Amino acid sequence: MSTIQPPHDRGKLRDLAVAVAAEAGELAARGQAGITVLDTKSSPTDVVTEMDRATEELIRDRLLAARPDDALLGEEGGGIEGTSGVRWVVDPIDGTVNYLYGGPDWGVAVAAEVDGVIVASAVAVPVRGQMFDAVLGGGARLGGRPLNAPEAVPLEQALVATGFGYSADRRIRQAKVLTEVIGRVRDIRRVGSAAVDITGLALGRTNAYYERGLHLWDWAGPGLIATEAGVRVGGLRGGPPTNDLVIAARPGLYEELDALLAPLGADTDG
Ligand code: IPD
Ligand code: CA
Repeated sequence: MSTIQPPHDRGKLRDLAVAVAAEAGELAARGQAGITVLDTKSSPTDVVTEMDRATEELIRDRLLAARPDDALLGEEGGGIEGTSGVRWVVDPIDGTVNYLYGGPDWGVAVAAEVDGVIVASAVAVPVRGQMFDAVLGGGARLGGRPLNAPEAVPLEQALVATGFGYSADRRIRQAKVLTEVIGRVRDIRRVGSAAVDITGLALGRTNAYYERGLHLWDWAGPGLIATEAGVRVGGLRGGPPTNDLVIAARPGLYEELDALLAPLGADTDG
């Protein structure tokens, strides 16, 4: 018996990601009013709400009903093994603190990974009525229309988004790195959702983004959308993006930001 898998249809994976992210986004949006904290995770400020869990459950049920042999990695539920060669990477509510405070900047991220490479992705930002999607090699879209990030600007004119981890020690270190960045750029934004930050590059909401300490579910799916819109998504010193550091900007600006961050050790805790 052959163990060779047929190639996966990236367009179909994308369509499923979009359908599931849309349904999950509606569920989460309906549940936003009156939401309260259910539990905390890595620190007392790293919250999880009942809707994070309910939304991930819906995503898991829908994906595995459509494709029962797939694997899944979700922020709230851990991992499920599969045999098809496809693994879904899911952040049910990215920007949970914004969600808790009633803000609009949170997203639902659903992405399909094959052999360690994200090949299809959807990010819903329900309160803003936005659905981003992308297929590896097939371009990015917003609401079904092609999406291209605006051209790079020089570092000193760049609006740069970043974020902070949940542990106090890490945040203090990240703030120190930021003191070296803020005087070299136009200004800084802390939106509170990596998915919104990274997809926002494709819209020109900011020019660049960097953050230490993300998880795969925060950056991988949104990263494909940015990449397919012409953004370079990588790590420090031109390396691949990792949980240690993600840098994203149009080529040209990416290299300038990378050169600023590398000597600061922005990918370390001290
Ligand atoms: C967080 C958000 C935030 C980023 C944190 C993430 P969560 O994800 O993306 O912007 O700064 O590093 O953990 O906890 O809201 O899913
Ligand atoms: Ca997240």
